[in-house]
Amino acid sequence: MDRIIVRGGAPLSGRIAIGGAKNACLALMPAALLTEEPLTLTNAPRLADIRTMTELLASLGVEVAALQGGRVLALAAHGLSSHLAHYDIVRKMRASILVLGPLLAREGRAVVSLPGGCAIGARPVDLHLKGLEAMGAVMDLREGYVHAEAPGGLRGARVAFPFVSVGATENILMAATLAKGTTVLENAAKEPEIVDLARCLRAMGAHIEGEGTGTITVEGVDRLGGATHRVAPDRIELGTYMIAPAIAGGEVLLEGGRRDLVAAFAERLEAADVEVSEEPEGLRVRRKNGVIRPVDISTAPFPGFPTDLQAQMMTLLTLADGKSRIEETIFENRFMHVPELARMGARIEVEGGVATVSGVSALKGAPVMASDLRASASLVLAGLAAEGETVVSRVYHLDRGYERVEEKLSACGARIERIGG
Ligand code: UD1
Repeated sequence: MDRIIVRGGAPLSGRIAIGGAKNACLALMPAALLTEEPLTLTNAPRLADIRTMTELLASLGVEVAALQGGRVLALAAHGLSSHLAHYDIVRKMRASILVLGPLLAREGRAVVSLPGGCAIGARPVDLHLKGLEAMGAVMDLREGYVHAEAPGGLRGARVAFPFVSVGATENILMAATLAKGTTVLENAAKEPEIVDLARCLRAMGAHIEGEGTGTITVEGVDRLGGATHRVAPDRIELGTYMIAPAIAGGEVLLEGGRRDLVAAFAERLEAADVEVSEEPEGLRVRRKNGVIRPVDISTAPFPGFPTDLQAQMMTLLTLADGKSRIEETIFENRFMHVPELARMGARIEVEGGVATVSGVSALKGAPVMASDLRASASLVLAGLAAEGETVVSRVYHLDRGYERVEEKLSACGARIERIGG
């Protein structure tokens, strides 16, 4: 298994290109199930999770061609050969559940394994199932699989989510495009990935209003057609690389980055005394010469502080001049980076969903282990600032969501390399 070795202490200088959003692409790909015509996605990221979704869609009979080295995905679901999403694929990635809504809408039936994915909490899919039930689907859970049927087709309904779920909003949104009548999603997720999906579905002929707000209205249509859609920039990759010059020192231009994608995060970074400026080409981030100031954060659905940037921000705050309070409100088990950061000399106490970080003057390189996707990113960032050598193992977590991390950082002067085997 690959490891990443970081020798800390080198300030960064240069440019990092931000790729297409993994989480947007994982919702856009299943949208291909909704039509017999081709859906082409450009600016796709080249990541393990995208390959997993490709494998899943191919197992259902979707033709998927990765063109231009994987930058362009051409998907065509002329006819489907299966409506079964097998455990062997679904267990690798929770986003596999996103085939459920489109399969039901197109085929009137689906059998989907209950998902696995990152070990960051219980993460049930009850909101997905209840939403589809409100639209007329009949669900049966047997031997780890959801058996769903909508014999007379799905029909429009009012779906009021008790709390915000990105995935459930995406699943219901896709299903509603082909349902009979009007579906109103209340307390819908407002994440940029939802907006990106709605734009793509609209280009395919769907009638959708209100994406990006808490209420989305979908008028079902009889059929959708093909489209070409450019995947939006990855705000989590952007935020992760914004921490790099903040923690290692120096200045980096994040090409394609936009402030509106990471507004709450950028505001907290500035409160920690890191400079963020928006330029025509992207976001420029610079560590001022002074100390990192402690800040408090609390994760929340968009437009709040993203849970997917909590671990990376915590890494920065381990070096702040004082105490920071970090509250995780989305996932109950998302502090798995804490013991690893402690191995590097960080002082963090966790009580329930709150971590109190007491800044130290330096981190020390150590062998550490990645436990989930964003936790792995936080350990690489810690390595950039630590004295000596940090060896991050279980890098496959990192590869699920970050493309060529060692190349992007070393191009800016970081001393980082991947060791195979
Ligand atoms: C998506 C993102 C993930 C991000 C998360 C929150 C993708 C592929 N992944 O995950 O990176 O961390 O949004 O921004 O886009 N929940 C239920 N029942 C459900 C669905 C969710 O209880 O049916 C709970 C979850 O356990 C969690 C919370 O709701 O506590 C939010 O989860 P959700 O927004 O659904 O996350 P995902 O879509 O899985």
